[in-house]
Amino acid sequence: MNKKISFVGVGPGDPDLLTIKAMKLIQTSEVLFWTDSLIPQKILDFANKNAEKIKTSSLDLNVITEMMITKVKEGKKVVRLHDGDPCLFGAIAEQINILNQSNISCEVIPGISAFQVTASYHQAELTIPGVTQTIILSRAGGRTGMPDRESLHNLASINSSLCLYLSARHVKRAQEVLLESYDPKTKVIVGYRVSWEDGWTALIELKDMEKFTHDKKLIRTTIYIISPALSNFSKSSNLYDPNYKHLFRPK
Ligand SMILES: C[S@@+](CC[C@H](N)C(=O)[O-])C[C@H]1O[C@@H](n2cnc3c(N)ncnc32)[C@H](O)[C@@H]1O
Repeated sequence: MNKKISFVGVGPGDPDLLTIKAMKLIQTSEVLFWTDSLIPQKILDFANKNAEKIKTSSLDLNVITEMMITKVKEGKKVVRLHDGDPCLFGAIAEQINILNQSNISCEVIPGISAFQVTASYHQAELTIPGVTQTIILSRAGGRTGMPDRESLHNLASINSSLCLYLSARHVKRAQEVLLESYDPKTKVIVGYRVSWEDGWTALIELKDMEKFTHDKKLIRTTIYIISPALSNFSKSSNLYDPNYKHLFRPK
């Protein structure tokens, strides 16, 4: 495999959250494939004005990969943009599989995911010692379906920080199931198009999640972070404890 395509995570929306590596690849690419519904035009504006920009939101997998293969074989530098981090609900595996079969290798450049920017807007730590040390990144069902062992009931049962992508349409059922395991007053950050110009976040309680979602008419580009860590600060970490010794602070 000698030809290469770069799959680049461009973060949640704000162009200032691009990595330097992502920026360099956008600026030097000759053909850019991008999902116009999930990536703001401002990010495309960093590309060379002569670069070919191909919108993919209305194309299917075979059409997209065939076009990528053609452009690479023409000797073009091809970059495929994905929102957030490509490894999360990015559908990159199926693209890379087809490209590899055509003897085209791929690299993946990570990006900031929606859960990270949303937590940052509330200065939230999702791993508070003594409360939870685990973050689950998942979804509340949908047409893709969930493996039985990953039912929302099972995911909720350990009371960790739980980030739900792609779930606004399923909020009624999600709230019902989450309330079987979490306290109704558990804090939830709701994020809509976070870091876009019209985006926002709100801190609510789990018992209000469905009503809030319907009142705000949320359907797309919404993330929920449900976490006991958002209201519990019970114990500081060992790392900065004056009595805790480690390699870099032996005394
Ligand atoms: C197909 S998934 C892609 C996730 C992306 N790869 C990531 O790492 O953030 C799209 C879902 O991600 C979440 N999402 C992506 N960007 C977002 C943003 N700026 N604000 C809120 N949610 C976002 C929403 O749940 C949306 O439905």
